[in-house]
Amino acid sequence: MGRNLLLNMADHGVNGAGFDKDASKGVQLEAEAKRGNVKGFSEVKPFIDSLNKPRAIMMLVPAGKIVDEVIEELIPFLDKGDILIDGGNSHFTDTNRRVDYLESKGYHFFGMGVSGGEEGARKGPSMMPGGDKEAYNVMKPILESIAAKVDGAPCVTYIGPGASGHFVKMVHNGIEYALMQLIAETYEILKNGLQFTNEEIHGVFEKWNEGRLSSFLIEITRDILTYKAEGTDHLLIDDIKDEARAKGTGKWTSQEAMNLEAPIPSIDSSVAMRDLSKYKAIRTQAATIYGKSEAIVADKEAFLNLLEDAYFFSMIITYAQGMHMLSRASKEYGYDLKLDEIGKIWRGGCIIRSKFLENIYGAYGKNKDLEHLLLDGDVSKLVLASQTGVRAIIAASVNAGIATPVFSASLSYFDNFRAERMPSNLTQAQRDYFGAHTYELIGKTGTFHTQWMPK
Ligand code: 6PG
Repeated sequence: MGRNLLLNMADHGVNGAGFDKDASKGVQLEAEAKRGNVKGFSEVKPFIDSLNKPRAIMMLVPAGKIVDEVIEELIPFLDKGDILIDGGNSHFTDTNRRVDYLESKGYHFFGMGVSGGEEGARKGPSMMPGGDKEAYNVMKPILESIAAKVDGAPCVTYIGPGASGHFVKMVHNGIEYALMQLIAETYEILKNGLQFTNEEIHGVFEKWNEGRLSSFLIEITRDILTYKAEGTDHLLIDDIKDEARAKGTGKWTSQEAMNLEAPIPSIDSSVAMRDLSKYKAIRTQAATIYGKSEAIVADKEAFLNLLEDAYFFSMIITYAQGMHMLSRASKEYGYDLKLDEIGKIWRGGCIIRSKFLENIYGAYGKNKDLEHLLLDGDVSKLVLASQTGVRAIIAASVNAGIATPVFSASLSYFDNFRAERMPSNLTQAQRDYFGAHTYELIGKTGTFHTQWMPK
């Protein structure tokens, strides 16, 4: 990613230098930079000496201890006023710590979520910088020039103070997990429910990508479903193990959502399914005990229309949960997030970019204090019109024994979200029964306790 960002900068006339301990990477970088304005280094001192002051250095290393190690390696060569940027997927609490540490040493530092993978870095990523605004403003022209553009607008904006940039990137990744799982569930319904061939499934995603579901993740799924490795006669997808890995950003999103008491069950379910996938050996044993799912018997065309509605519905609910989590975090941590701006910069370059992000941008643009995306008038019409589909798809899948955890979590979230009265009165009564935790009464102030069983 670092190499690609540098090459992207070079295309925009920015002189830069890359550092990697592996000297061959530097040689390769210099060869790739056509205009000769990018240098490669494998020693820290000459790398830092090659930069104009105040220096700006972006670290692109895996999250965790290694970021601290790189910072310590750089510090002896830095001058006060130099700018350090962490462009990796650091946990926002680590970024908070580094903000304080580096500020105390007189360096500028900001954490910046960068989304779009290697391809995005080369052609235009979406970037979420947060923290030291003065330092961001120095970098702003360069970051705007290399960012993805939608309708001429760069997909980068100052997110807010502290670790807000990395926080927003973390939630981006949580949404990414849920959308990927939704697509996986759709694939399963098509493959084992409707018993479609890979080619037919490819056709479904191809068609969807031309309509309101158009998005990066649907687009790459379409392409994955035609990819044959050189010299083979079948699709690569059929050779890939059904055990998904994760670097952990989805799990962080769920953990933090629970801390904030911001419910995001669609994202939680997607994290759980990645984990369940890893238990291949016991799943294989269970399959011999419990048997397989069954085919779904349905009118194919009508079913596909319902499935398109179901995906659209669950996708909206997933984004809505993520945006709600951001608004909770904004209040809790004083980030003062501009949700319309976040919707705007997610429209291009990032992994969760989709046509629907225009609607999100529009909804928060129209009402900057919108408490929840599902309360927006235009969004609610889309949700109401697609709920029949999601109910039908879940019902058919449940009957066939096909798991739809994210479709189901999205629908249940919605059904409780729209319920003026949830069954939580019973939960309150139970807590009071066994633990004297008290309850509140409708129309009365204060808390109450009952001795439910005679002593
Ligand atoms: C992005 C991606 C990127 C990376 C994830 C993968 O926005 O460009 O989210 O950050 O691909 O870290 O995450 P998992 O390994 O957890 O699936």
